Amino acid sequence: MSQDQQITTAAGIPVADNQNSISAGPRGPLLLQDFHLIEKLQHFNRERIPERVVHAKGSGAYGTFTVTHDIRHFTKAKLFSEIGKKTETFARFSTVGGERGSADTERDPRGFALRFYTEEGNWDLVGNNTPMFFIKDPIKFPDFIHTQKRCPRSNLKSAHMMFDFWSKAPESLHQVTMLFSDRGTPDGYRHMDGFGSHTYSLINAAGERVYVKWHFKTRQGIKNLSAADAARIAGEDPDYAQRDLFGAIERGEFPQWEVRLQVATEQQLDDWEARTGWNPFDLTKVWPHRDFPLHPVGIFELNRNPDNYHAEVEQVAFSPANAVPGMGYSPDKMLQGRLFAYHDAQLYRVGTNHQHLPVNAPRCPFHNQQRDGTMAVHNGGAAQNYATVNAVGSAPRGMGHGEPELGLRGGAGRFDGRGMEDDYTQAGNLFRLLTPQEKLNLCANLAGPLSQVNDEILQRQLAHFDKADSAYGAGVRAALNIR
Ligand code: HEM
Repeated sequence: MSQDQQITTAAGIPVADNQNSISAGPRGPLLLQDFHLIEKLQHFNRERIPERVVHAKGSGAYGTFTVTHDIRHFTKAKLFSEIGKKTETFARFSTVGGERGSADTERDPRGFALRFYTEEGNWDLVGNNTPMFFIKDPIKFPDFIHTQKRCPRSNLKSAHMMFDFWSKAPESLHQVTMLFSDRGTPDGYRHMDGFGSHTYSLINAAGERVYVKWHFKTRQGIKNLSAADAARIAGEDPDYAQRDLFGAIERGEFPQWEVRLQVATEQQLDDWEARTGWNPFDLTKVWPHRDFPLHPVGIFELNRNPDNYHAEVEQVAFSPANAVPGMGYSPDKMLQGRLFAYHDAQLYRVGTNHQHLPVNAPRCPFHNQQRDGTMAVHNGGAAQNYATVNAVGSAPRGMGHGEPELGLRGGAGRFDGRGMEDDYTQAGNLFRLLTPQEKLNLCANLAGPLSQVNDEILQRQLAHFDKADSAYGAGVRAALNIR
């Protein structure tokens, strides 16, 4: 709206005066009949929606995904149907634990959420800048996240809470090592890689399933901030990553990521599990590249800033459940938990009809019998609001869209793998990959919060570092100046 455009009420009625309330005499009081004043104050009071319970601080942009390599032998999803094909996308990057106003440079994983507006509906890949996660069972997620938030009594972030949890959950060590390395403080959002993290599946036209992990390799090169710079920038420019991403796109410097895929058949995963002892669907583990090399797929580019942060970035509602025909889930327990959690969170955070908003609505036609609720924008018009049942057949129909049945193993139960699973080798491998300077940084970064925890927690956590690599434990002890 330009300055000289006529202001109207939300009902479109011209506003006579937007600067002076109607008062009884020049001193006041004010009249209840000044509806414009009342509507203005009322709407202002309702401007905030709940922030995301995690990943509250973030930046978003639109872009384009371009296919560069043929993967039709893996998936029949139409967005991959020909080389050169382009699909409109939206991405949102974020920190995890902080509030909406928190600093962009905090030590935290970074969210890497992508939406592809395909002709068969929205495909969302809601990942992080890390290929692994802290836990492997969604039942622990609320407890874990509480330790990343504020202490209920002091309202302060608490190293005690964080390491009390981590030291009793050794499966977290792999991601803790990543988090306290230099990669825990990326230099903005353009200079980091992204990962779908979970194992997903792809289904081809013949109805064959392969399991995959998605990778997004930054073309800008990896750049991280030192712990000292991250702390300084948190004070000087808390919106550093937003400024960097928004500014780059405004200048026409469009960030790009190379999209790559690790692929495995179920048999290959069985063989790998037999050889390594690692559950291929365990989110605390990675698939090593030497066992499962990366296949090139395409280029993901961000090239348009949203016009309105609230309407687009704040109200965008990603869900790992949004998978188009030719794609599927996997037995990964964390993924299974997430398939429920996102839509549920968004029904509360944005509203019953959050999928009607422009940033969330598919770009293809959509039809169902869901009707009504608050803010129903696409309410089906005069179309029939009920479905009827077609003639029934008894043949097994797989999981839908030609996806084959998923074979199950064992009976239902609660499986406690603690003490039987190897949570140390991959964490040790990550430590051993680091240069001497990166190892020093990791140990110094860990020593900060570990110097604030009690001896019981400290000893329990040190024992995990020792098990991953004795040099890891020794390095953290040296940084803490203890033996
Ligand atoms: C956001 C739950 C694990 C990446 C969220 C939100 C919820 C949630 C409720 C807020 C959604 C919204 O209000 O729009 C969970 C649960 C998890 C889990 C229950 C485990 C069981 C993960 C993992 C990753 C991840 C493993 C990455 C691999 C994200 C990202 C966002 C997010 C990137 C922000 C999306 C955006 O930008 O809007 N999560 N999460 N989460 N989560 Fe998770």
